Amino acid sequence: MTRQKDLVQYLQLLYEQSNEIIFFLDREGEIVYRNSASYEIMGEDVQHQLDSALCHHCEGLTDENHLVTCEGCYLYSGVSDKVDFQLFMKLQDGTVKPYSANYQTLDYENDIRVLRLNNISNQMKTQQVLHQKMLTKHIMEAQEDERKRISRELHDSIIQNILNILVEVRLFKYLPPEELSEKTEQAEYLLNNLMKSIRNISVELRPSSLDDLGLLSALRSHFKYIGKNYGMAVLFESNIEDTRFDTEIETALYRIIQESVFNAIKYADVDTVDVTLMDRGEYLEVIIEDEGVGFDMHSSPRGSGLGLFGMRERAEAIGANVSIKSVAGKGTKIALILPLKKGGEK
Ligand SMILES: Nc1ncnc2c1ncn2[C@@H]1O[C@H](COP(=O)(O)OP(=O)(O)OP(=O)(O)O)[C@@H](O)[C@H]1O
Ligand SMILES: [Mg+2]
Repeated sequence: MTRQKDLVQYLQLLYEQSNEIIFFLDREGEIVYRNSASYEIMGEDVQHQLDSALCHHCEGLTDENHLVTCEGCYLYSGVSDKVDFQLFMKLQDGTVKPYSANYQTLDYENDIRVLRLNNISNQMKTQQVLHQKMLTKHIMEAQEDERKRISRELHDSIIQNILNILVEVRLFKYLPPEELSEKTEQAEYLLNNLMKSIRNISVELRPSSLDDLGLLSALRSHFKYIGKNYGMAVLFESNIEDTRFDTEIETALYRIIQESVFNAIKYADVDTVDVTLMDRGEYLEVIIEDEGVGFDMHSSPRGSGLGLFGMRERAEAIGANVSIKSVAGKGTKIALILPLKKGGEK
């Protein structure tokens, strides 16, 4: 009996002194009791607590996968089991803070529920810092890989070609005049190959047509290159003609399309991919679609996984919205919407 009394006292102390915010709510979601930790959200005004419904402070909640709107709110959906989720609350000073939340019915007879909230701002910050560090590491590794690739390409293709030409040219002085013409032609052929290799590397790094002639032209020649070198037919449709956009926009769209098409080449197991780039007046619409093997967005990537991440970053940087949908066995669709500024200014 004494122990029971102690427990009640301890629970009372815990309720009063805990940093955890505790709300007891009735079936309408109105607050019946709240502890002093809740002052950080609603202030100390005791009178105010009666009509200060939680909804006034709530900025939305999330479960493992989604941002849930008010329609899915646990307060009114009569959840009988315990539920854990994350909640965003607007504090008195107007700032919004994240809380881990636990909600359950305590007293079934009177339909009294308890909602417990723990401020997780600090954990979220630490997590963000760790996430940022991991990304920086990934980006640096990717840059290093890219440098290795370029260096290898320069070494294997350019230097080898130059060496071949050098050997040919050195022989010129020993050749009888009748053989000179044939050998010169051979050297010319090798020089042409060398030029092509350098052009390919330089276009891959940054296509000059993107700056000089615009997006449509750069894309057309990129798709031609893809067809020739990778055997992938890109079925391209566009109505933008020679419209020019800001450099950041042209670069971002070019890189996003390039990455999506390369992904289709690497993973989709198809020989055609559809690309559309349409000016819809209010917005630009870009769709890259293949009917290949598809992939599950939640399982780990077959490659680095940085491409899709970079795509989202680039889209965000130019104010575009990108959606990536893939169904195993059916294919992959990347759709990007970029709102255009009014008054013809692009
Ligand atoms: N069109 C596609 N068809 C099938 N699977 C795809 C397609 N696009 C992407 N994927 C899958 O999604 C993963 C992530 O793609 P992402 O572009 O982010 O990285 P990556 O291509 O593997 O590496 P990186 O782009 O850095 O070279 C891929 O590893 C692949 O498993
Ligand atoms: Mg990729």
